[in-house]
Amino acid sequence: MRVLVIGNGGREHALCVFISKSPICDKLFCIPGSDVIQEMAQCYKIDPMNNDDILNYCKEHKINFVVVGPELPLSNGIVDRLSEEKITVFGPNKTSSQLESSKIFMKNICKKHNIPTAKYSTFDNEKEALNFLDKVDFPTVIKADGLAAGKGVVIVKSKNEATETIKNIMSKRIFGTSGKKIIIEEFLEGEEISFFALVDTNGFILPLTTAQDHKKIGEGDTGLNTGGMGAYSPVPFIKQSQINDFVTKFVKPIINDLKYNNIFFSGVFYAGLILTKDGPKLLEINVRFGDPEVQAVLPRLKTDLLDLLLASSKGKLDQLKPPGWSNNFCMNVVIASKGYPESYKKNTIINGLNKITTNKSHYIFHSSTKKNEDHWLATGGRVLSISALGSTLKEARNKTYNVINKIDWKNGYFRKDIGWKHLT
Ligand code: AMP
Ligand code: GLY
Repeated sequence: MRVLVIGNGGREHALCVFISKSPICDKLFCIPGSDVIQEMAQCYKIDPMNNDDILNYCKEHKINFVVVGPELPLSNGIVDRLSEEKITVFGPNKTSSQLESSKIFMKNICKKHNIPTAKYSTFDNEKEALNFLDKVDFPTVIKADGLAAGKGVVIVKSKNEATETIKNIMSKRIFGTSGKKIIIEEFLEGEEISFFALVDTNGFILPLTTAQDHKKIGEGDTGLNTGGMGAYSPVPFIKQSQINDFVTKFVKPIINDLKYNNIFFSGVFYAGLILTKDGPKLLEINVRFGDPEVQAVLPRLKTDLLDLLLASSKGKLDQLKPPGWSNNFCMNVVIASKGYPESYKKNTIINGLNKITTNKSHYIFHSSTKKNEDHWLATGGRVLSISALGSTLKEARNKTYNVINKIDWKNGYFRKDIGWKHLT
């Protein structure tokens, strides 16, 4: 089969590495792809937000199956457009991808079914939002309703900070139209974990696994929020009974609510959970794989990834054997350009990559690089993400950092404490 992956980051590099290993993948394509993805897939520079150009490319290249990596093309209706033309696609349609693209859409479903989540109020009027601040306890959490590349959540400690944040989002529009509406919600305390399931076009739910991301730039989870500086999988203290509980408490009622309203969701259901003293609560839903979480999840998967993604898109997840997972832990550490998530230099040289051979126990994924003759250049904020497997979390950690130590990139920065909460 001829498979097309949409996207160009570390997540899509990982998807391409594992899809290209599938015995049913005859040829792999990627839009827009990258220099490293070019090593395993035919890449073509089309804007991932241009549905018509993607559709034409699929027709010209006789693509049988499309896997959408990032959230923006999903919320832009790429699945709807390709499905209308009978092309099989992995991922949710535009309406159901609102689970991620509208926090208010997601919270309203939670409210309807008493799904545990932070208490919240929604506003489309700045003055009303500002007046409401008299009634809240601090810290509190202010969220832009729409997509904001992971930056739309601000935890504020005082009324002054809250006032400034609301003005920035609603009148200065720092997140563009994503800030037309906002949520003000209760601040929750607890450890955060991510839970992933696949949902098929008939609503069948297949639990996958757990991971823990590290969103802050600094060690000990300090400093600014990033897209994610490292992750590991599985989370050691989560038992199978808790995974079943996550499906019952969070995934099922949401999928059923959508179905009841004739909205059909399929693809990745990624629940961002916070484990509070009153039990797990839903912080957010993403409708695609996490980056860098998937770089820590896929090396553990023993089942053919393409089979799983296809079964989700064809309503056949119930016919598959449960996916097999390695007993190993996998850790992924991101190397970013120094200065990220603020300003950083572009096009600095990364040495040493060509000398590291990847094998089944470690992987080098590229998020944002380009090849210049014999050199790799760093072109973005998050640049590389390195994964390694080990029989314990500690062993996975040691192996990951051993690989990182072979990379010679003066302008690179990485956290040295990924997994710190569960490593002694
Ligand atoms: P989200 O994009 O909704 O996952 O939010 C990004 C990050 O903000 C989360 O990973 C949490 O660390 C934090 N966050 C979001 N909502 C809350 C909340 N209600 N209480 C405490 N922290 C939160
Ligand atoms: N690493 C967080 C995300 O992919 O949303």
